[in-house]
Amino acid sequence: MSTTFFEKPAGQKTAFNPLGVKGIDHIEFIVDHADQWRDFFVQKYGMAGRFYADEGTGVRGRRAHVVGQGRINFIVAEPQGRGPEADFMRWHLDRHGCGVRDVAFRVKDAAHALAEAARRGAKVVRPLDEHEVFIGGTIAAYGDTVHTFIERKPHTNFAPGYQPVPGGVEDGDINFAMIDHVVANVEHMEPWVKYYADIFGFDLFMHFDINTGRSALMSKVVSSTDGWVKMPINEPSSANSQIQEFLDRYNGPGVQHIALLTPDIVTTVGEMRRMGQDFLDVPETYYDAAFDARVGDIQEDKERLKELRILVDREPDDDGYLLQLFTKCVFARPTLFFEVIQRRGGARGFGEGNFRALFEAIEREQAKRGTL
Ligand SMILES: [Fe+2]
Repeated sequence: MSTTFFEKPAGQKTAFNPLGVKGIDHIEFIVDHADQWRDFFVQKYGMAGRFYADEGTGVRGRRAHVVGQGRINFIVAEPQGRGPEADFMRWHLDRHGCGVRDVAFRVKDAAHALAEAARRGAKVVRPLDEHEVFIGGTIAAYGDTVHTFIERKPHTNFAPGYQPVPGGVEDGDINFAMIDHVVANVEHMEPWVKYYADIFGFDLFMHFDINTGRSALMSKVVSSTDGWVKMPINEPSSANSQIQEFLDRYNGPGVQHIALLTPDIVTTVGEMRRMGQDFLDVPETYYDAAFDARVGDIQEDKERLKELRILVDREPDDDGYLLQLFTKCVFARPTLFFEVIQRRGGARGFGEGNFRALFEAIEREQAKRGTL
């Protein structure tokens, strides 16, 4: 296993944002039942319903809820009626199951972003469209995933035809602030690293290679110069890799996981567990002597972390550390999952150390049971 950070000397920083990307505006999921997935995010992720849309409120071909917390907005949309939009959504569902269609970016100037992206080689899939709410346009990305550029006008609704849902205030113990990173699984990562560099001006931020003996993957992380957008791109490096399983079951490249940043992972995971969210099984042996040696001094109570099965990782060169936990795959197909992440100090990684630590912990469990 190896990890390389790419540090550019200050003078050589790209400091360059050709499309004017400010961050992630929202993520759109095409789903089988919009109500069910709204309830899922409200009940298990502490989100609030923020907006609603269907043919009655003035949108064509869909029923959709916007749920969110902090700066996170998810659209969960299902097809409604007939017409090109509904037919496309049914095709997407049939091909991929439930999944992410659009990772939409907030930009300063959507007309500029779309024209500049096209000039840099992006394929425009929806031309510039101006509404009283926002100006938007869309380009193709990996698989059937797209990126919409959104320029918002102040003090308006979420999108044309979307109505605010009254009382949408989240006040529970599950605390999410923003999206930390969005991970893509693709067949070959190199063309997509180049796509984000050439079109978005995103820098290669780090590279890691993981081979646990059972499963292997390679990942490169591209990031906006200001660090607000971080996108690891995985490719399978063995036929039995979990990345290959995703590609087979999703029918091509797509979003593998979305990491949600919390300032308090202990409370957040505790509450999500209480609300019935399932997380990755972490063996008891993850927390034995190897854990203390690997993570060193941390602020959290280790017994409580073990109780909640929260993972910890520290990069050798970082002064901070990260805490994380992965949900089980949420949709019917074993494709997309979520990550809950908290960063302490200057933690920059994505938990690469946990792949090996988990694998070794599972081996120790097997050895204890005598099955290895
Ligand atoms: Fe992650």
